[in-house]
Amino acid sequence: MKISTSFLACKDIKTCVSNLNKTDADYIHVDFIKGNFVTGKEIPFRKLKKVPKFTNKKLDIHLMTDKLDKYIPKFSKLNCEYITFHIEATNDPLKYIKMIHDCKIKCGLAINPNTLINEIEPYLGSVDLILVMGVEPGYGGQEFIPSVIDKIKEIRKRIEFHNLKTLISVDGGVNDKTISKIDKFVDMVVAGSFITNSNNYQDQINKLR
Ligand code: DX5
Ligand code: ZN
Repeated sequence: MKISTSFLACKDIKTCVSNLNKTDADYIHVDFIKGNFVTGKEIPFRKLKKVPKFTNKKLDIHLMTDKLDKYIPKFSKLNCEYITFHIEATNDPLKYIKMIHDCKIKCGLAINPNTLINEIEPYLGSVDLILVMGVEPGYGGQEFIPSVIDKIKEIRKRIEFHNLKTLISVDGGVNDKTISKIDKFVDMVVAGSFITNSNNYQDQINKLR
């Protein structure tokens, strides 16, 4: 299972990302909130574009915005493994899947806790990763919503039914307790405050592995 680490709950991005870089985490998860799509902690692009200066890990970008035409090209210039956008943010997911793939970057599709799986099913075969939100997007440090467990299992079933290689990642509320309920069904987890609220990041990551 891959671990992608979020610094959304941190005060000082430079110190936090530099410390995450010293761990064996697989990716640095970059949360970007802009506009009316969600309310939450907005870190401007001019600050986020500096993240690659503090880490040599690949970035796992999570766009919580509907301004995809503007921000996919901007983020694609960073050292990204994945760019993920929300199914709730657009009526034309295929346009943005293509835009991301044309940049030779893997594409993720995120789904909020209250959105039906049927909304993403048509795109399961076109994306590389489904990012299942364990919380309402916006802030780090929220509690995992238990009903998401069944959703993850159902998405896993549908991926297997269609014989696809699409990965499942879970974002929000992941800690040493919630992980045991989901780890058999997911390929990756995003963890933020569970790691960054501690003074030993690697110890926390070891508890998740
Ligand atoms: C929530 C963000 C998450 C969040 C995870 O909107 O997408 O990536 O930072 O943080 P924790 O692990 O603290 O829930
Ligand atoms: Zn996120």
